[in-house]
Amino acid sequence: MAQQESAKTRRAFDAAAADFTALGRYLWRPIGADTVEVADPRPGQRVLDACCGTGASAIPAARRVGRDGVVDAVDVSASMVSELRRLAGELPQLRACQEDVTAWQGAGYDVVQSALGIFFFPDMAAGTRRLIGMARPGGRVVFTIWRGDAMAAAGRHLGLAVAEATATDPPAEREPHLFDRINQAGTFAEWLTELGLSDVDVTVRDRWLTMTPEVAWLVVLGSGYRGALTELTPETVGRVREIYLSRLRDAGIVELDATTLIGAGIAPAAA
Ligand SMILES: C[S@@+](CC[C@H](N)C(=O)[O-])C[C@H]1O[C@@H](n2cnc3c(N)ncnc32)[C@H](O)[C@@H]1O
Repeated sequence: MAQQESAKTRRAFDAAAADFTALGRYLWRPIGADTVEVADPRPGQRVLDACCGTGASAIPAARRVGRDGVVDAVDVSASMVSELRRLAGELPQLRACQEDVTAWQGAGYDVVQSALGIFFFPDMAAGTRRLIGMARPGGRVVFTIWRGDAMAAAGRHLGLAVAEATATDPPAEREPHLFDRINQAGTFAEWLTELGLSDVDVTVRDRWLTMTPEVAWLVVLGSGYRGALTELTPETVGRVREIYLSRLRDAGIVELDATTLIGAGIAPAAA
């Protein structure tokens, strides 16, 4: 089951890579910049950017560490990694690798950061614990997640649009997930502390995405929501787009909540 979930995540992001970059200017890049501002990597440091996507946080981190530093940017999706290599050509300190980051063998990083990645791990707590273990004792660890049901309205209307366009049942309610319990500043801070980080601090970054039709559709094409389209014919995708946009209009959704929580803490001494 966990393996199936990982393969599904990888397929969704493999299909999304080019559109992911296009959505990046509205969403991923500002969130990546916020993440790096909190992580604050210094010149010469070694950074692990887990679930790097096309580099929204890995690229600014590589600029900060400079040529004396290193950023290992790891993502399970081959197309994300090749898009990142294309975008990061002039940054030799950025090493983009395709791998499941929870199996990554690196260790002793000054900074471990991951923007909008940890909730994709089939076992979110175990995967996050593994990442924390890759920081050096006293290293800085920063994870960015969505707050509450940020982005959920897009997913809900997309699910209903796919059901209508394919004449299938509306999607079942999502199974309860650890993420649902820790997606507020206080609960996120408590969880990170339970995982062994000290001096935990959570920054809330309010963000609202203006849902022009172009941006609203990019939210689908350039994110994990893309997975809902992978089995559909181009005609059906066109129909889904129409229904999705008209549902958003009818529901009066002109802005999408894209607020994030950026949790930062200090890694413990090795066990
Ligand atoms: C929402 S994107 C965020 C990408 C990037 N950090 C950013 O902020 O733009 C989530 C990324 O996590 C990656 N991912 C999910 N599970 C992963 C895993 N186990 N190992 C490495 N990457 C993973 C996906 O392929 C995808 O690129």
